[in-house]
Amino acid sequence: MCGIIGYVGEKNASSVIIDGLKALEYRGYDSVGIAYHTCNRIEIIKAQGKIANLEKKLKKYIITHYGLGHTRWATHGKPDEKNAHPHRIGKFTIVHNGIIENYESLKQLLNGYKFKSETDSEVIAALLDKLYSEKNDILKVLVQVKKLLIGSYALGIICDDIKDTIYAIRKDSPLIVGINDGGNFIASDVPAILKYTNKYMLIGENEIAEISNKVKIYNDNLELVNKEIITFEGNIESAEKNGYEHFMLKEIHEEPEVIKKTIKPFLQFGLDSLKENMPDFSKYHKIEIIGCGSAYHAGLIGKHLIEKYGNIPVTVHIASEFRYQKVFTDEHTLVILISQSGETADTLASLRKVHGMGIDTLAIVNVVGSSLAREASKTIYIKAGPEISVATTKAYMAQITILSLIALNIGYTNKIISEKKALEIIDSYEKLPSYISNMINIDYKKIAKVLAKKNNCFYIGRGIDYALSMEGSLKLKEISYITSVAYPAGELKHGTISLIEKNTNVIAVITDKNIADKTINNIKEVKTRGATTIIITTDKIDNEFNPADYKIVIPTTNDFINPMVATIPLQLIGYETAKLKGCEIDTPKNLAKSVTVE
Ligand code: G6P
Repeated sequence: MCGIIGYVGEKNASSVIIDGLKALEYRGYDSVGIAYHTCNRIEIIKAQGKIANLEKKLKKYIITHYGLGHTRWATHGKPDEKNAHPHRIGKFTIVHNGIIENYESLKQLLNGYKFKSETDSEVIAALLDKLYSEKNDILKVLVQVKKLLIGSYALGIICDDIKDTIYAIRKDSPLIVGINDGGNFIASDVPAILKYTNKYMLIGENEIAEISNKVKIYNDNLELVNKEIITFEGNIESAEKNGYEHFMLKEIHEEPEVIKKTIKPFLQFGLDSLKENMPDFSKYHKIEIIGCGSAYHAGLIGKHLIEKYGNIPVTVHIASEFRYQKVFTDEHTLVILISQSGETADTLASLRKVHGMGIDTLAIVNVVGSSLAREASKTIYIKAGPEISVATTKAYMAQITILSLIALNIGYTNKIISEKKALEIIDSYEKLPSYISNMINIDYKKIAKVLAKKNNCFYIGRGIDYALSMEGSLKLKEISYITSVAYPAGELKHGTISLIEKNTNVIAVITDKNIADKTINNIKEVKTRGATTIIITTDKIDNEFNPADYKIVIPTTNDFINPMVATIPLQLIGYETAKLKGCEIDTPKNLAKSVTVE
């Protein structure tokens, strides 16, 4: 989704902004632009495509100390230069992330203004200019604009009359203020400012940020607000590749460490820490889990484990569906919202919907201080650190780790799991990082070669293995552009098997020994029809009758940590296939890391 960076300070604003834009690339974009103040005017330069195209157009020696930059992920209007931000009308230059839903009706109020783009964003510049020409007081204008805009926005604003200053407001789209001795920033997220500072503030929805050599935050009554300065715990390396060819590969290699960090608060003092640090689930008779993309898939893993070991019914919903459907909840329902970014528009809307009904919510989130984290009744942070690759790996891994700990906690508290068994399971979590490292070290290139030859692929599995297949299939399709479909193995016969022909690739995940035979039969069925078969299975299930053409064998562990061990091959098969096909792995076409619009 669109990325925003703004800077005011002693350094050359144009280079600081370009650094910020590069750090925002991972969010996904298709055009880019910069506005900076130089020679007493605002200069705007835009380019279609990548930041490198913008850099070619930038003048070499410019003196500038404040400006705005933007990466645009097209929603309203083609990804071309005229639609790229910043937009400038009258005295105002703006960058926008989000969607202004009432932009057409606002245009009616703005007779006399000429619009050059097809965007919903340009109207904001005109609106600011009109109101400012009437009031001549920027802060009052911003309060009024907030009331007039319907939709979502993070906005960076420059007014010609107010030098060395940028303004920012937000609603339903993320924006932070970065703080440093020699200059201050606005940015869509922390990686964009990390080269210069690790200190930042969160801007609230009812606040206005005024950034100059000082940072002032006002509330809607234009009183100054005292804000907490947050120090980002990671370092610049956490947002750089560190010698890995891609962020995705680096992030997969970080998974053993991520798991250690994620489990630490819950397991460091055994069952006591688990009980103390987990929310109290005893009041809930029903759990609804909501997420998008991989977060939804993580929810499906959670469902299997919580139902099996916690004996509580769990329904998992795709957030974009949930927000518009009839909801059956009561005071004994807990709604769990899963999101790496904590800003996904549909997940946030789902949270607000159930809050409106007075239902308890638990957010499982990676980004500290994100909207979901702030608004949910309770939050568990997954501690995955910044995830830059659009295709999630380490955050998904940490999400399923937390969900398995929730299942363990409920199972133990409800006396479905004995103390002895619970202690054994805790012990297995301690070994999990080394299992994960071993799985990372396996060579998946041979399988990638098979997959890269075809334009389609099927993933199959049953129960929790089907949930794992869905994530494996998503990884493959999003980064290698191979049409990949995940299917419950038993459902193949009811239509989909007609698509199986000679050399169709079928990947089966078979780790649940109770139903392994059934999926092995399905493998035989597709093999008979000419499919090339690949299975991911455990050493206990694997045997000489295993009919697959290729296999990845994972160690037999237990239900709680097995999903994490089985995830590594699924992620690395996707990665190696995309690499073989020469795809842009970290920033796949059309995709965005953080989907802040509906
Ligand atoms: C995008 C990303 C996916 C992610 C999904 C949900 O589609 O490309 O990797 O799973 O959003 O994002 P969230 O931040 O809510 O986990």
